[in-house]
Amino acid sequence: MAVVVSSSGNAPAFKAKMTVYVFVCVVIAAFGGLIFGYDIGISGGVTAMDDFLKKFFPSVWEKKQHVHENNYCKYDNQFLQLFTSSLYLAALVASFLASAVCSKLGRKPTMQFASIFFLIGVGLTAGAVNIVMLIIGRILLGFGVGFGNQAVPLFLSEIAPAQLRGGLNIVFQLMVTIGIFIANLVNYFTATVHPNGWRIALGGAAIPAVILLFGSLIICETPTSLIERNKNEEGKEALRKIRGVDDINEEYESIVNACEIASQVKDPYRKLLKPASRPPFIIGMLLQLFQQFTGINAIMFYAPVLFQTVGFGSDAALLSAVITGVINVLSTFVGIYLVDRTGRRFLLLQSSVHMLICQLIIGIILAKDLGTTGTLGKPQALVVVIFVCVYVMGFAWSWGPLGWLIPSETFPLETRSAGFAVEVSCNMFFKFVIAQAFLSMLCGMRSGIFFFFSAWIIVMGLFAMFFIPETKGVPIDEMRERVWKPHWFWKRYMLAEDDHQDVEKRT
Ligand code: BGC
Repeated sequence: MAVVVSSSGNAPAFKAKMTVYVFVCVVIAAFGGLIFGYDIGISGGVTAMDDFLKKFFPSVWEKKQHVHENNYCKYDNQFLQLFTSSLYLAALVASFLASAVCSKLGRKPTMQFASIFFLIGVGLTAGAVNIVMLIIGRILLGFGVGFGNQAVPLFLSEIAPAQLRGGLNIVFQLMVTIGIFIANLVNYFTATVHPNGWRIALGGAAIPAVILLFGSLIICETPTSLIERNKNEEGKEALRKIRGVDDINEEYESIVNACEIASQVKDPYRKLLKPASRPPFIIGMLLQLFQQFTGINAIMFYAPVLFQTVGFGSDAALLSAVITGVINVLSTFVGIYLVDRTGRRFLLLQSSVHMLICQLIIGIILAKDLGTTGTLGKPQALVVVIFVCVYVMGFAWSWGPLGWLIPSETFPLETRSAGFAVEVSCNMFFKFVIAQAFLSMLCGMRSGIFFFFSAWIIVMGLFAMFFIPETKGVPIDEMRERVWKPHWFWKRYMLAEDDHQDVEKRT
């Protein structure tokens, strides 16, 4: 694995090997993504299990017995939704705390905290004897997600050799999709284990959490984090170790410089509100809104429930969720392959058209063939599953990974960590909204929900067309000159900032 990589473009060329040590660090850290994916995927299966419903949500279980009364409303229960959504609310709050811990103590302890939160959360949810224990467990898992999602992507970007940064960043999303897929499989098998299958399903997250905990004892701290905290000698040593070459002075100097510039910005959150921060800030926030309003998590959280709603038996429903899981993983590889070839914009635009068509077809079939009561005929149900799969494909190579990649590459260093923390918590907020509202929306809007998401897809496609510039191949610290300044809309904020600096100089 002795690939020598160096930066291209106007960025300085730093010597680096893709060392075995970096590879091990990437794999261990990415387990944070796997646990996140597992948590996303597991709740849908568990909330469709009768043993679980009977124990914690007997009224939902009662309602489910009268399946034919109303297809769209059998799972509509605020507490049941709180079981899924509490995790995202906790993650939202935790990511601000995590951002402070990340800068003050480092990326490595932040990951260790994440795994401890995960382990306690898993213990409480898998061992729950009442609903309070269950929800507190979900909240602790949410803290794990908040800490993990803040530290892992930053860690990956900081230890990756420059030329491999894009690909390594998407490894995080890949692990998220693998986690969702494993959860779907676990749901499928544990659904037949009575009465404690749900405990096994929820307890399964302990395995990656233990790997992350012990793994995070052997990984290194990132050089940037060490230097940022004035541990320059240790930072230099760490850099030498991860790069696998002796001559690291140039990269070391560049990190020291970047840290010096960043340290002059006393309040990065205030800096985020300045006009010059607006393009990455607004685009980053809208990407989170749009990523969630594609409707993806209506499928990821609730796939088994959704498939049961359209008339599948419980087993077939869980199996269909496994299939969408595989497609999600495989299509992420397409994203990894294409993102630096076709560019970001092409993927966003292509998938908007692609996902729109799928949502419309699903909506039309449900509106026509699935009444409020009754079930969907076999052929129609098959078409629905096929289009759900095609839809997941489109998401997995575009709005999924790019929702994380674009915010991580468009902020300048001085606002990168703060900006990313805000984007992570926005993502969690919109996930919470979807998790909390989806089953009620399904009940109130019925098949109309698919037209609702279609409308959002049109909006996001137009936004991508006019407002998201191409960032493929642009060195990370040249966004301002090469992307924002020439852009027909965003340039106004750059000019405003230049004027502002002129005035400051004059006074
Ligand atoms: C999104 C999740 C989604 C997952 C699906 C992630 O990028 O943030 O909300 O469930 O992709 O693969």
